[in-house]
Amino acid sequence: MLERLKMMEQEALQALRSVRDVEALHAWDQAYLGKKGALTPFLRGLRDVSPEERPRVGQAVNQVKLALTAAFEAREAELKIAEQSASLAADAIDVTLPGRPPVIGRLHPSVQTLRRIYAIFADMGFQVYRAPDVESDELNFGLLNMPPHHPARDMWDTFYTTKAGVLLRTHTSPGQIRAMRQYCPQSIRVILPGMCYRYEQVTARSEMMFHQVEGLAVGKNITLTDLKGVMAEYARRMFGEGRQMRFRASYFPFTEPSVEVDMDCLLCGGAGCRVCKNTGWLEISGAGMVHPDVLRNGGYDPAVYSGFAFGMGVERPAMLMHAIDDIRLFFGNDLRFLEQF
Ligand code: PHE
Repeated sequence: MLERLKMMEQEALQALRSVRDVEALHAWDQAYLGKKGALTPFLRGLRDVSPEERPRVGQAVNQVKLALTAAFEAREAELKIAEQSASLAADAIDVTLPGRPPVIGRLHPSVQTLRRIYAIFADMGFQVYRAPDVESDELNFGLLNMPPHHPARDMWDTFYTTKAGVLLRTHTSPGQIRAMRQYCPQSIRVILPGMCYRYEQVTARSEMMFHQVEGLAVGKNITLTDLKGVMAEYARRMFGEGRQMRFRASYFPFTEPSVEVDMDCLLCGGAGCRVCKNTGWLEISGAGMVHPDVLRNGGYDPAVYSGFAFGMGVERPAMLMHAIDDIRLFFGNDLRFLEQF
């Protein structure tokens, strides 16, 4: 019996050496130390051993059991360490690799331009006033001196909605009425920035959506000279010292008189080029003195109050300053473009 016990022990230890993973280790445990394992018959066999021999044989069986258990535990610990170092090796970090910089978001070029405009007008005492993009026909046209069927409505190709009397504003001018109705009879100095929408053929030069900044000043003794001063200061701060300005007679139903504000061409300095269509001048804003009827629609008595208003694009000056030659880039969502700002 002791012979067989020795052989079984040798065999078990040999088998244990070829155990390579936890699963095999478990199987080995079952095969040798488990209830139906190779050791059990020896324990049971002790009954048949003579009483004199029993202590010696019992001790031998017991020693084998202890030896196998110890070997099992040692192998188990080894396997754990091997497993750990394998997983460490798999997750190894190479601290010498260059870092991956996080992608940093930035402000849209239109927003950057808007913020410069806000800052310039804030210094002249203008507050930002917000008006909605979805407007009534009444505010976008009617109260601005363009009753239904007025031919001047043709100046703006309009997106109407399926709801009667509701449209996407074609300009920021309806905000003039909103501001006046809110502040009357106080004097007003506001700018009204926002998106405008026009049913236009989209080309490199015109989009169907774009930003405008409207300006409105209402008070006593406000004259065209004030408008000129404000426009000149804006051009100087926005585009640099020494800018030349020119007011050209124009027509808008909601201003009287109306002007087109021009600035000498930034690119050719007035000599004439492709950008200024060889005129030497760039249009920067429509403007004028608020029409008496519009003042009245806002609640002000035109015999006592006067005011000026202007409306200018935002993408156009941004295009000039950054030499962008296609307005469609602004709302094309192309990161290669946006990342440059
Ligand atoms: N609303 C006009 C436009 O979109 C611009 C404008 C604003 C003109 C204010 C005069 C006064 O063309």
